[in-house]
Amino acid sequence: MTGNTFGKIFKVTTWGESHGSGLGCIIDGVPADIKLDEKYIQSFLDKRKPGQSKYTTQRKEDDKVEILSGVFEGKTTGTPISLLIRNNDVKSKDYADIKNKFRPGHADYTYQMKYGFRDYRGGGRASARETAARVAASAIARKILGNKVKIRGALIQIGKEKISRKNWDWKQIPKNDFFCPDKTQLKKWENYINSIRKEGSSVGAVIEINVSGIDIGLGEPVFDKVDALLAYGIMSIPAVKGIEIGAGFESAELRGEENSDQILAKKKKTSFKSNNAGGTLGGITSGQDLVIRFVVKPTSSILIERGTIDIHGKNTKIKTKGRHDPCVGIRAVPIGEAMVALVLADLKLIQKKNK
Ligand SMILES: Cc1cc2nc3c(=O)[nH]c(=O)nc-3n(C[C@H](O)[C@H](O)[C@H](O)COP(=O)(O)O)c2cc1C
Repeated sequence: MTGNTFGKIFKVTTWGESHGSGLGCIIDGVPADIKLDEKYIQSFLDKRKPGQSKYTTQRKEDDKVEILSGVFEGKTTGTPISLLIRNNDVKSKDYADIKNKFRPGHADYTYQMKYGFRDYRGGGRASARETAARVAASAIARKILGNKVKIRGALIQIGKEKISRKNWDWKQIPKNDFFCPDKTQLKKWENYINSIRKEGSSVGAVIEINVSGIDIGLGEPVFDKVDALLAYGIMSIPAVKGIEIGAGFESAELRGEENSDQILAKKKKTSFKSNNAGGTLGGITSGQDLVIRFVVKPTSSILIERGTIDIHGKNTKIKTKGRHDPCVGIRAVPIGEAMVALVLADLKLIQKKNK
């Protein structure tokens, strides 16, 4: 099986399954002499971990990270860094029903068809539990990017309920369970998610990631454009069905003079009058903020009965038991930030080699 490694210089290989004994990653290509400890990595994992609010899965995992290699006396040595996160709250019996049936919308059917055998417990390797390893690796990616680069995510839409952009306040995000920048939306979202959950259903969402303080010049023409790699990284997150950069799909409705961001010089500094490009021109960062939006589909494991087939190809019905996120978009916020950090750290190291 290939496809478990991401990046060219800052190379992350993740491993592990939802209900195995643990998961983790190996990160190769990390420069030596970077201060690193478990407490720092943990702060990022704590943002993603499950069971933190009633709006996410009730699976309780501490997601405690252990550094197994590549760090000595609190600094990276330049050798591969291996990180381990153990699984503790595993209830595999909840998944006995899906052993022989395929959940519509999940990866059960394609894994079975591809490999002829699958770890059905909690979705196995297809579970978003795997993304804990990416979040851990992203803590190191952020060190490479430096403090000037700020990668911040927000949940901007749940189902049909969108935030009002004029109320956007970054300071609100750590204060609520939704990573929501618009406090006027919170009550509505709470009621909405509660009613969806009570009905045993789920709902999709849109996440926006903003990167400020990024150097000009990251991104390699032509296949490793920054926008191409962002799309690749973000689309690799489970449940993501679409991504846009800057004005994105809305740019189809704009005229040329509305869409292109005018360039001007102010006190010998270049600036742009707008940011429809979302921080990239020709696949190379322009120094403007990178603006990325992505959509996640509604969780496919729901309590509402659905038609499916069993592993013998017979028609049957399925209702998924177990603990599931009613909206995966909430926990997808720190995961999106993590993927963006992995892409940019790799491009930064590539750019260093170019010079
Ligand atoms: C943070 C997060 C949590 C998720 N939790 C669940 C879940 O509890 N139940 C579920 O059926 N899918 C969940 N998913 C989505 C599945 O992992 C995903 O739909 C599945 O692997 C199939 O892949 P695809 O949707 O990309 O085609 C989650 C996704 C994310 C990003």
